[in-house]
Parts: sequence; structure tokens; C-alpha cells
Amino acid sequence: MSDTYANLVNTPVGKLVARRVGLPLPPRLERHQPALPVIDGPVLVGGAANGSLAGTLDRIGAQTVAAASAQPTFKALVYDASAISESEQLVDVYEFFHAAIRRVRRSGRIVVLATPPASIRDPRKALAQRALEGFVRSLAKELRDGATAQLVQVAPRAHTALESTLRFLLSRRSAYVSGQVIRISAPAGTVPDVPDWERPLQGKVALVTGAARGIGRAIADVLARDGADVVALDVPGQASDLALDITADDAPRRLADELLARHGGVDVVVHNAGITRDRRLAGMTREQWEQVIAVNLTAPQRIDRELFAREVVRTPGRVIAVSSISGIAGNAGQTNYATSKAGVIGLVDAFAPALFKSGHTLNAVAPGFIETQMTAAMPIALREVGRRLNSLSQGGLPVDVAETVAWLASPGSAGVNGNVVRVCGQSLVGA
Ligand SMILES: NC(=O)c1ccc[n+]([C@@H]2O[C@H](COP(=O)([O-])OP(=O)(O)OC[C@H]3O[C@@H](n4cnc5c(N)ncnc54)[C@H](O)[C@@H]3O)[C@@H](O)[C@H]2O)c1
Repeated sequence: MSDTYANLVNTPVGKLVARRVGLPLPPRLERHQPALPVIDGPVLVGGAANGSLAGTLDRIGAQTVAAASAQPTFKALVYDASAISESEQLVDVYEFFHAAIRRVRRSGRIVVLATPPASIRDPRKALAQRALEGFVRSLAKELRDGATAQLVQVAPRAHTALESTLRFLLSRRSAYVSGQVIRISAPAGTVPDVPDWERPLQGKVALVTGAARGIGRAIADVLARDGADVVALDVPGQASDLALDITADDAPRRLADELLARHGGVDVVVHNAGITRDRRLAGMTREQWEQVIAVNLTAPQRIDRELFAREVVRTPGRVIAVSSISGIAGNAGQTNYATSKAGVIGLVDAFAPALFKSGHTLNAVAPGFIETQMTAAMPIALREVGRRLNSLSQGGLPVDVAETVAWLASPGSAGVNGNVVRVCGQSLVGA
């Protein structure tokens, strides 16, 4: 559904009026188009001299510069803060960004690299690294014109697994992702080669549940664009390759049979199908509770159990579950839904470590306000609040969630495991 307010304030007169009375000014976000470079402008690089970062940026085709004086403006700022070992050194981060922050272009990108505090023995270094989270989250809130900022915590020996994540975060594909902390772990084996980054999923089979419309359909389209052979699953009566109610008793078995018979297995599993049955707890029926838990939380668990037990998922498998910011922050009228979506995060926490040891990854995306039929049905006042209460002052599009899922599904994302990545424009809800 279209955002009438954003369209209005993006006219010259609308912009003037909005500025005068202090109304939010949602910028037009730049989104991915085929054949564009990952990043179309100079990238200022600072912090620890790190050969592997320089090599990665080079492979991405980034036009890097090391001195702020070299260019008047920048499309991205990348700062390696991973060597900072005590709080006094955090001033280096201040110095770098203070000098360059006003020169970030429209839809610019900021990435700060750090070391995961949990991997550090020295408490002084661990706290200094932890402090970077507050810096990045605040800086993201100060940015204008569609620019975004993220913190990427790279575990020891995980630098070789950074490329897919930098490609995503520096490009237009991450248009609606901001203020996130992403952890990269050292994969058990080598990171698979990605011969063609325009089609990283070439030769892969991807299952997407709830793929007939909304976010699921966008995920199916983007994974197919990236080269995957997509199996689009939805309930009978909806246009899809595979008609199946995922809550049916025999659904996991039938799904596994179908994937083995038709495709010999599956490489990417996206648990997207979801429902809401909103009611305040006092008025909620037991059926409304049970339906939501069954579709959103129990079905993904049963499907994963069957697909892994029967080795339907090929190594390196990529499992991505769709959570929600309701599952992080809670929401009045959604005790059932928020329980199910927090449970999805629990699913990631519980199973990601063991799956990683077997060469797979499991992550979740947590969308904020996304323009779909689900959110179009909200009361207008609530819809306007949902849209504006984030750093980008607008709702996201299904494609924004889909691009995030595609990054996590990529064979190159071998080190991205156990993350919950919010696709919410840095929503204030649950921040
Ligand atoms: N729209 C948002 O703003 C938003 C925000 C946060 C999270 N999400 C989550 O994103 C996912 C997709 O949301 P959407 O807005 O596209 O919803 P949607 O209602 O437009 O689409 C959901 C799809 O899932 C299918 N589905 C439902 N029950 C099923 C079942 N038992 N078996 C098989 N398929 C089933 C539906 O038929 C439908 O095609 C959901 O998990 C939702 O909770 C959406």
C-alpha cells in the first residue's frame, strides 16, 4: 500500500511545509537494481590497518580512500575498531566520524567492525568493544537522507567470512536495515566460493513457506532472482508450487517426501508463513492462541526436525526464520503473536550452535512495519505511528525483508549464524 504522507512531503511544497512545522521527512530510499555496483561512490576507510579488510573491499569493487581530505563526500565510511583495547582509545572513533560524518552522501552506509566482547578475555578490552554498540546505535539515529549504520562483530579467525556481509551492508540491498549488531563466527570449514555474486544461489533449491503473497512472495522472487530453484509453499487455494497446511499432522513428512522426490533435497529453508489473531488476552479465545502458536512456532520446529533427521537439508544448509519486532518488544493485543515470534528467536538460540558445527547456519529476521496486506488492515492512527517511529520515518517494503533473507541464504554467509537481524529502519519499538 502506498505511503501518501511520504509522497506528499517529497514534493517541493510538501518538503517546505514539513520543514517549517517540524514534521518527519521520510527520505526516498535507494533500492537494489540489477547490474549496479555494490557501492557507487568513494569509501573512506579508517581504524586498524587490516589487510584482510582491504582485500575484501577490493574484491567488492569498492573505491577506497584512506584520508578524509582525499574527497569532498563519501558514499560509505568503514572503520575497523576491532583493535581498540581500552575506553580511552574510543576517542579515535570519535575523531574519525566527527571529521567525516557531515560528508556522507544520500543513502550512505556506515559500517564499524568490532570484536565480539564474549570472545575477549581482557575485561578492559571487552568493555571497550561493548561500548561501540552504543556509539553505532546512536549514530544511526543521527543520520539523515536514508543513510544507515551497523556494527559487525567479527570473531577471531572469521575475517575470511566477511565478504557477503559487507556486500549486503554497503549496498542498496540493506536499505531498511539500520542500527544492527551482526556477529560473524569462524565457520568450521572454508567459506564456499561464490563465482557469481549476482546469482549466488545458482544450483540451490530454496523452500519458502507462506510464499503466495506479501513478504513470502517477495522472498521467493528475490531468491529466484539470485539463481535459486524456489519451492513456493502455501495453503491449498493460494497460488503456489506446493499446497500444504504446515500445521497438518503429516505436513513435515509430506514436505520431506516432496523435496526428496522432486529436488533430491533442499539447500535453503525460509520459515515465513505466519498469522495474527489479535485480541487482548482477556478476550482471546483458546483457539486464537493455539492457531498462532501452531503456525508461527510449532510448525517450523516440526519441519526442521524432519528435514534434518532425514538429511533432506544439504550441507551447507541455510535456515532463516521470520520473527517480528513484536517478539522483541511485545505488543498490546498480540500476546499470542509475540509469544510465537519470541519463540522463533528462542528457536535460533537453541538450535543455531549445533547446526553450525554440522556446517549449516540458522538465523532470524525480525521485520518492523512492512507495507503488506497485514499492515494495511491496521487502524489508520496505529498505522501512521508504526510507519513513522523509526530512524527512516517510513515503513519498509517486502523486498527489504527479502534482500535480508537472501544475504543470510547466500553460500558466502557461512559465518553468519545465530543472529536476529531486525529489518525495521531502526524502529524505536524494542530498540
Ligand atoms: N507485515 C509486517 O509488517 C510484518 C512484520 C513483522 C513480521 N511479519 C511476519 O512476516 C511473515 C509474512 O507476513 P506477511 O505480512 O507477508 O503476511 P501475509 O498474511 O500477507 O502472508 C502470509 C502467508 O502465509 C500463508 N500461511 C498462513 N498460514 C499457513 C499455513 N498454515 N500453512 C501454509 N501457509 C500459511 C498465508 O496463506 C499467506 O500467503 C509472517 O511470519 C509475519 O508474522 C510481518
